[in-house]
Amino acid sequence: MREIPQEYLASLARVEALEAEQSAAAKAAQKSQQEAVLAQIQAAVESALAEERAKADGSSASEPAATGGAAGDVASNVDWAAVPVTDLTLFYPGQASFEWVQNGKTHGGARPLTKGGDACTTCHAKEVETIGTKIVAGGEIEPTPIPGKRGTIAASIQAAHDDENLHVRIQWPDAGHNPAPFVDGGKMDPDNQIKVAMMITGTGIEMGETTGCWSSCHADNTYMPFDPGADAIAANADVASQLEAKETITKYLTESRTKVEVKGRRGKAQGGWDKLKPAEEIDELLANGTFLDLLRIYADGSASNGYLLERRVANGGDISAEANLSGGVWTVVFSRPLASGAPGDVPLEPGKTYTVGFAIHDDYAAARFHHVTLDTSLALDDDAAQINAIKQ
Ligand code: HEC
Repeated sequence: MREIPQEYLASLARVEALEAEQSAAAKAAQKSQQEAVLAQIQAAVESALAEERAKADGSSASEPAATGGAAGDVASNVDWAAVPVTDLTLFYPGQASFEWVQNGKTHGGARPLTKGGDACTTCHAKEVETIGTKIVAGGEIEPTPIPGKRGTIAASIQAAHDDENLHVRIQWPDAGHNPAPFVDGGKMDPDNQIKVAMMITGTGIEMGETTGCWSSCHADNTYMPFDPGADAIAANADVASQLEAKETITKYLTESRTKVEVKGRRGKAQGGWDKLKPAEEIDELLANGTFLDLLRIYADGSASNGYLLERRVANGGDISAEANLSGGVWTVVFSRPLASGAPGDVPLEPGKTYTVGFAIHDDYAAARFHHVTLDTSLALDDDAAQINAIKQ
């Protein structure tokens, strides 16, 4: 055996010391990043809660809520037993934003999605179970997991119409409560055990038909990685007032911005919350049908009708709803006119197929901590669509 030279041992010790130092620094950086994320989430939770409370009080002028009906009042002329059932699996998406899915560095399907015209379902229809279960456990696109939360929700969806109104029923099993570790009391929205949203894609939205809700889910929205924070929003008073934004940025469409940063090269923030187009151009988009229609139903059966364009807007279009939990199953029923004529309501016409998306906030969740569908098709009296709204 040859003796190891002293200089070698000394240099090895130096290398080891340096490595230990570097790993301690990396750990400290990771910890402070985690703390920053938690602080950001805390702020977002507070603003989401304030928003939900304002809505529940009816004290927010911009979010009129229809009163909830008693069980059986809404769509009472529909014989649900005769309406076909579509089984849809809603999955937990974490922070997989519209920018994230378009970026080849983060998402394997980016090119076929952006250049090839593929839809999310082209590749993922059969594996949402796997994706949801993986994301909900925590990782790159879920930095703040909720222990015990389910990765998917199996929902049954039915739709019918009577030439005047669209009626939708959605049912899914309730699950036990798993407290969110980053909120006091563990419930982000203590007033709403559940909420349901349905979005209908309007016209002229890039990848609107192929991605559904994703066209409005940006990396700088509430709870998302590039949430600009209240200070940056306040510092841009013009944009903040046009968006009616204080703490955080709601969902919006890329079409409402002059530029949205997708790749985030050289440390650029992803998204484009502050690159707002002038109000006249936004009005024109709305008039041309370029928006996502957004219907929301709360746990007490109250509902709001609105749309997403430059921000989340309540349009006051008709909607009635009810929600109840019975025998461990949630049932939410809602009705809205097929064509209300209200700006921000997508008119539903025979012979056309629409891309829709559903979201369920279960277990008192708020903002992005929901379960969602990929692009889903809906049509009136057309069994080629995933959801066939039949005439009754
Ligand atoms: C051309 C096929 C294709 C299309 C279209 C596509 N993806 Fe993907 N997606 C992939 C591939 C490939 C991966 C990487 C899978 C892996 O790593 O196991 C992936 C991964 C994901 C993941 C992460 C899953 C995980 O295991 O962490 C999510 C979330 C996702 N895609 C969502 C979407 C959404 C939303 C859309 C539509 C906006 C979409 N994808 C469109 C191919 C596609």
